[in-house]
Amino acid sequence: MGYFRENIEKLKGYEPGFQPSQTQVVKLNTNENPYPPSPQALKLLTEINPEQLRRYPDPVGSRFRRAAGEVNGVEPEFIMCCNGGDDLLRMAFQAFCDENRAVAYPVPTYSLYPVLADTQNCTAIEIPFDDEFNLPAKLAGTNAAMTIVCNPNAPTGSFISVNELASLADEIDGVLLIDEAYVDFAENNCTALVKDFDNVIILRSMSKGYSLAGMRFGYAIARPEMIAGLMKVKDSYNVDAVAVAVATASIKDQKYFKENVRKVKSERARLTEQLTERGFNVPDSSGNFVLAQCNNGRAAEIYEELTKRNIFVRYFEYPRLEDKLRITIGTPEQDNKLLAALKEIIT
Ligand SMILES: Cc1ncc(COP(=O)(O)O)c(C=O)c1O
Repeated sequence: MGYFRENIEKLKGYEPGFQPSQTQVVKLNTNENPYPPSPQALKLLTEINPEQLRRYPDPVGSRFRRAAGEVNGVEPEFIMCCNGGDDLLRMAFQAFCDENRAVAYPVPTYSLYPVLADTQNCTAIEIPFDDEFNLPAKLAGTNAAMTIVCNPNAPTGSFISVNELASLADEIDGVLLIDEAYVDFAENNCTALVKDFDNVIILRSMSKGYSLAGMRFGYAIARPEMIAGLMKVKDSYNVDAVAVAVATASIKDQKYFKENVRKVKSERARLTEQLTERGFNVPDSSGNFVLAQCNNGRAAEIYEELTKRNIFVRYFEYPRLEDKLRITIGTPEQDNKLLAALKEIIT
């Protein structure tokens, strides 16, 4: 017998996007925000009190729960702090799924879900999206213990309406986890559903809209009974004192956040238009990225050529994604470098 459980021995593991060590590159491969975090948050970093580090942090990050509750129009008890949205996903799999309790989700989607399913040894019921990425009707009939809908979906950028997700929450018996990691760049969100449905959990990330990917901070929104259950499987101190302080200052600085989101959305429209002009098929995206289909099928080759020029985008060897590139929205300067390189590669 090996040291590892059989399912872990067989597990391939999640493959994160490449993180180059050089800073002088055009990095459009892991959906980070191209703008810096809120100056209010950065100021806090210079004012850290050694006592904050010597002592254990508040185990539930009360300051952040209050601030996030205010921003989202819910009581602090509806919020749970997480060490990034991925921490919440791990907790949810641990809390709801095992050999006899399946997870279901539409595909293609976030490639971490099947990895977490394998760690729990649970069946992953993958229901294909149609070509327009509508919510598959079959998702309501899987009998899964947990259904996940990533909304906006990664890597497609497609968005399912709040009404459709409300119907899904109503139809299924299990938990509905709505992964809203990219929702800051969408026109709507599902927060209101937690008031009506005790089986809904919303995942939020501070990595994208708030430019804190390096800090690792995310949160759940759900009814207090659901939050209390999830808390049982969290690490005792899953968010550190510095992260709580920085994330709280960031979420409070709504003015700065909204301005950054506005800039990203405006650049998303420009990049979509420019890529379309260069012969890519680029559906509208509700995230901080676009999924560009190369109509000559040369996605892998274009990806390699861009990489040689220190321009990093994401290429997935996954059914229905092989002819596409996922490109994070950068600053106009970064995107211009990408567009110039594409011109050179394609012609
Ligand atoms: C769809 C989706 N959900 C959740 C996450 C987790 O984000 P984080 O752990 O950085 O908060 C990501 C990260 O890229 C994502 O793409």
